[in-house]
Order: sequence, then C-alpha cells, then structure tokens
Amino acid sequence: MSAGVLPEGGVAAALPARPAPPYGPRLNDDTAVDDAPPGDIRVERLAGAALAGRLEELAVLRLAVLGEFPYLYPGSAAYEERYLSGLASLPGGLILAAFDRHRMVAAATGAPLDQELDALRDPFIHAGRDPRSIFYFGEVVVLPSHRGRGVGTALLEIGESHIRGGRFAAVAFGEIVRSTDHPRRPKSYRTPDAAWRRLGYRLEPEIGGALSWCDACDREETAKPLRFWVKSLAASIGA
Ligand SMILES: CC(C)(COP(=O)(O)OP(=O)(O)OC[C@H]1O[C@@H](n2cnc3c(N)ncnc32)[C@H](O)[C@@H]1OP(=O)(O)O)[C@@H](O)C(=O)NCCC(=O)NCCS
Repeated sequence: MSAGVLPEGGVAAALPARPAPPYGPRLNDDTAVDDAPPGDIRVERLAGAALAGRLEELAVLRLAVLGEFPYLYPGSAAYEERYLSGLASLPGGLILAAFDRHRMVAAATGAPLDQELDALRDPFIHAGRDPRSIFYFGEVVVLPSHRGRGVGTALLEIGESHIRGGRFAAVAFGEIVRSTDHPRRPKSYRTPDAAWRRLGYRLEPEIGGALSWCDACDREETAKPLRFWVKSLAASIGA
C-alpha cells in the first residue's frame, strides 16, 4: 500500500473491495444507505483544481461524520470550506480522499504540527517535543457504510508514506476523550484503539490537551479533553 510522494489530484492507491464487517454501519446514519455494495476504493490527494472541484463534497462528508459521537461537532459548510482551503495552501498540508466509484466515502487531513492550532501544538511543546519534527493528522473520517474495511487505516498509512523520508521524526493525532457512559454514545460504539496500536501508534499519557466547541444540541462551548497517539517514523522504517 506504499504510495510514495503523491501527485496532486493523482491516484495514491487502490484498495480492493472488502466484505462488510459483521457489525455493519451505524443505524442512526442516513448516509449508510447505499444502493450498490461497496466496490474498490481509490485514494487521491486533493489539492489545487482537484480540491476546488470536490470541496463541497468533502465538507459534507466531514460534517456528517464529525456530527457523530465522539465528536458531536455541529460545524458549518462555510467554515469547513474555509478550513480546508487554508489547509491546502499550507506548506506541507495534506488532504486525502477515498472514493467508491465517483462517491467520496472517506477523507484524512494533516499538516506539520508547527502549523497547527496552539491548542494542539502546545501540549507537545510542554512535553518537551519539537513540533517541527512531527506531522499531525487532524481527522480521519469514514462514512458508516464503508467502515471496517480498512479504509481508515489505509488513509493513515498512505499519509505516512507521503511524509516518510522528509523532516518528520514522528506522526501524531489527537483523540477526544468521552466518558464511557456519555448519553450520546451509541451502544454499538467501538473505540478504534486496537487498530491504532496495530499501526504502531502509542498513547502518550504525558501529552494532554483540550479543544472547545459547542456540542450539537448544547448551547455553550465545553472543553473536550484530548489524548494523543504518536508513532515514531524512525522505528517504523522497515518494520
Ligand atoms: C475510526 C474510523 C476512522 C476508522 O475507519 P475504518 O475504515 O472503519 O477503519 P478500519 O476498517 O481500518 O478499522 C479500524 C478500526 O475502526 C473501528 N471500526 C471499524 N468499523 C467500524 C464500525 N462500523 N463502527 C465503529 N467502529 C468501527 C474498529 O475499532 C477497527 O478496529 P478493529 O479492526 O480492531 O476492529 C471510522 O470508523 C470513523 O470515521 N469513525 C467515526 C469517527 C471516530 O469514531 N473517530 C475516532 C476518534 S479518534
């Protein structure tokens, strides 16, 4: 699944169709309804004209998944489009999208940590890490209809292969910590922790942060604790 340096708008990798997982898509998501069975997945890096032509679709995809537990992030299409355009213009910004036929079904975003929000960068600095040497994945989002087929982990692997060989010693991402008895936690919710460990990520308990937003249905912003997963690229070479 190695992709090397990804051409903008070019095909990064093709993943063969995989059978649906036994637990299936979440029931509370209309986007899970698909007439055709999932087919082969194609992953592209979106930038420039390729991103401009897909910006609205990408914003809709992100809002659908980020609105779910554990994010519960209401967001807006206008903000998403601004955020994604800004990310695409950052040196080192990365947007990957996965397609089933012509439909975008998953996406991943990332940027050098030194270009990220203070709330994401500062916890690493306080823990003695150099943010210039870390690449940070913002979100990996997969539509419920396409979960459990390896698309999420493939996007992380493809992103890693894109940055490997450059100035980064490690890749990282943050996970929102929600209580196990959170009222909006679906009964079927499974944390992807085992999959992140299989990919070589480790939880770094000494790096702790928080991001604030107003959960969908709430009136006020609240701080969501974050925990961070980090993978050393040096250790993973040849692994
Ligand atoms: C987390 C997510 C990106 C994983 O993408 P994916 O394509 O389903 O991932 P993979 O098939 O590569 O499997 C990775 C893990 O995701 C989880 N997962 C897979 N299918 C799932 C499903 N239908 N429902 C819930 N979790 C699922 C599992 O824990 C799986 O690990 P396992 O193989 O040990 O069971 C995707 O499920 C998603 O977008 N979820 C909503 C947002 C979220 O929960 N994010 C986690 C916060 S860090």
